[in-house]
Amino acid sequence: MSDPAAVPTLDLAVLDQIVAAALAEIAAAGDLADLDAARVAALGKKGSVTEQMKLLGSLAPDQRKAAGAAINQAKDRVAAALDARKLVLEAEALSARLAAETVDLSLPAPAVQVGRLHPISQTIDEIVEIFGEMGFSLAEGPDIEDDFHNFTALNFPPGHPAREMHDTFYLSAAEGAERPVLRTHTSPVQIRTMQSVPPPIRVIIPGRTFRSDSDQTHTPMFHQVEGLVIDEATHMGHLKGCLIEFVKAFFELDVLPVRFRPSFFPFTEPSAEMDIGCSRKGGELKLGDGGDWLEILGCGMVHPNVIRNCGLDPQRYQGFAFGMGIERIAMLKYGIPDLRTFFDSDVRWLTHYGFLPFDVPSLVTGATNGGAR
Ligand code: DAH
Repeated sequence: MSDPAAVPTLDLAVLDQIVAAALAEIAAAGDLADLDAARVAALGKKGSVTEQMKLLGSLAPDQRKAAGAAINQAKDRVAAALDARKLVLEAEALSARLAAETVDLSLPAPAVQVGRLHPISQTIDEIVEIFGEMGFSLAEGPDIEDDFHNFTALNFPPGHPAREMHDTFYLSAAEGAERPVLRTHTSPVQIRTMQSVPPPIRVIIPGRTFRSDSDQTHTPMFHQVEGLVIDEATHMGHLKGCLIEFVKAFFELDVLPVRFRPSFFPFTEPSAEMDIGCSRKGGELKLGDGGDWLEILGCGMVHPNVIRNCGLDPQRYQGFAFGMGIERIAMLKYGIPDLRTFFDSDVRWLTHYGFLPFDVPSLVTGATNGGAR
């Protein structure tokens, strides 16, 4: 072959071998890291093709052009092979990744510990759903009230003994100013509604209420729901029909005897209390036709004074109102024995008595389907 003493020439056979070796290494690269190693081995600073390039300077000048072209060609072949292999390997890597990350949407979702809705929230949603179907809309009012809305406008004149029945929490006030109260019932929202919305009015009003009372059957904070209907034609028959429909839908009973007993509330005249049928045989309370009675709510025709206190003409407008304790009817419906547990924040209790977020009350699925608990 070449004489070491002579001017070096480019050995094309050696160049071909180098290219062939590089192409073989590229073809054998199993992944992008292998391929990069093959690139460095051929085209890197000390790569086999690069080393040939370095020979150029020592060649006889008349050989350089042809040798340079040959080496460049060799380099281009290797580079093209690298590019082609890279595309293949990248496509393979992507397919492998897509296969590994495939999600089987038909698999059941993993069991996760989900939060529960408190029975009070669920019961409020149920009540609002039932009255919503009857054309009532939702209204709310503030927890902190003034004496006018909580008492005076509701026909509890100052000094009236009925005020004493409410065990009111008073907040402090500046010297000489009237003390605000924590509302003792949701009835003040009747006043706020009549003051702000022209009749006809049909509202259902759930909310927190407060009384300074605490024992086995009373908690200082509890919940009520209030209903109010005001127009020019509503009478006691409407009141009865509406509430009878409500208790049947709420307790999910087709046969549920009811009775209305005369009662007294300052803001209604006449006033009544509604009882539903039950049985207490064997010490167990069961709702339905059992020969016994259970008080469930207060109601009546809105007192003309209340209508007048809201700036409406009682000669023209009339209607009915009702109010009930939410804890009480939730306990009856869901068999919750102890009032105070509602406010214990015990997660075990909530897991047992709470509701999954998907148990959205609807009259279609059974108004108030508690079955999915
Ligand atoms: N506000 C009454 C209470 O807290 C409940 C009530 C009774 C509300 C009769 C009414 C009603 O709207 O008509 O004891």
